[in-house]
Amino acid sequence: MSEKCVIHRPYTTVVLAMSADGKIADVARSPARFSSLSDRTHLETQIALADGVLFGAGTLRAYGTTLGISNPQLLQLRQQGGVPPQPVQIVCSASADLDPQWRFFRQQVPRWLLTTAAGATHWQKRAADGESFERILVADTSTGGIDWNNAFQQLKQLGVGRLAILGGGELVAALLAADLIDEFWLTVCPLILGGTAAPTPVAGEGFSSQLAPRLELLSVQTIEQEVFLHYRLQRS
Ligand SMILES: NC(=O)c1ccc[n+]([C@@H]2O[C@H](COP(=O)([O-])OP(=O)(O)OC[C@H]3O[C@@H](n4cnc5c(N)ncnc54)[C@H](OP(=O)(O)O)[C@@H]3O)[C@@H](O)[C@H]2O)c1
Repeated sequence: MSEKCVIHRPYTTVVLAMSADGKIADVARSPARFSSLSDRTHLETQIALADGVLFGAGTLRAYGTTLGISNPQLLQLRQQGGVPPQPVQIVCSASADLDPQWRFFRQQVPRWLLTTAAGATHWQKRAADGESFERILVADTSTGGIDWNNAFQQLKQLGVGRLAILGGGELVAALLAADLIDEFWLTVCPLILGGTAAPTPVAGEGFSSQLAPRLELLSVQTIEQEVFLHYRLQRS
């Protein structure tokens, strides 16, 4: 959908809302419903710009659903752009330990699973008779994790030129470590969640300050009590 697409993988934008103290959920990892209607509109707009939406299994376990596009103007823009009404919703899970009863599996959106060979086998047994995924992508590492470069090449070959990444922190950390993130949208919301165990935009092992990925600020917008920060990853 964009001239900015890198050739061998999708162009990626992380979209997250966080508290003023940098948490994307409370310590109970409840669904993050603390942002405003403006933020929800912003999220839906970013989703509408994408061919695919990627999120970790932890995020799906927290919500049980995903956000599809319902705004008529955004649906019309997609139609005019010649793309399907809904971007494909891609769940990443090494284990594929997902519940086929979640409402997600009854939402009117295309669904793909990105997993390992063991995860694919597990899911095929589990979801034999119910609603399921249209496509299962397998991209294994030798240690049972996900080979992100392979996965992103497959996504690109399947027509996913722009990918919105909707969290959570574990997924974003893995993609940052693999240098596969191009942009961040972070909405700073006016509340404090606290708690050492509460998730943040980037989990994982962290980066030393010398090796930390650096960002370039593209824009700042304030709407009522929230601040919308748009960054691009600096590349050497
Ligand atoms: N504020 C916001 O905008 C926002 C947005 C999204 C989520 N959240 C919050 O974030 C929390 C969830 O975040 P999270 O960090 O716990 O989980 P997450 O990143 O959503 O998902 C983690 C799971 O995804 C799979 N996964 C992620 N990276 C992987 C990798 N490199 N290789 C293989 N599998 C990988 C694994 O699934 P398996 O265990 O199945 O193998 C892993 O357990 C929830 O509390 C949610 O409410 C907030």
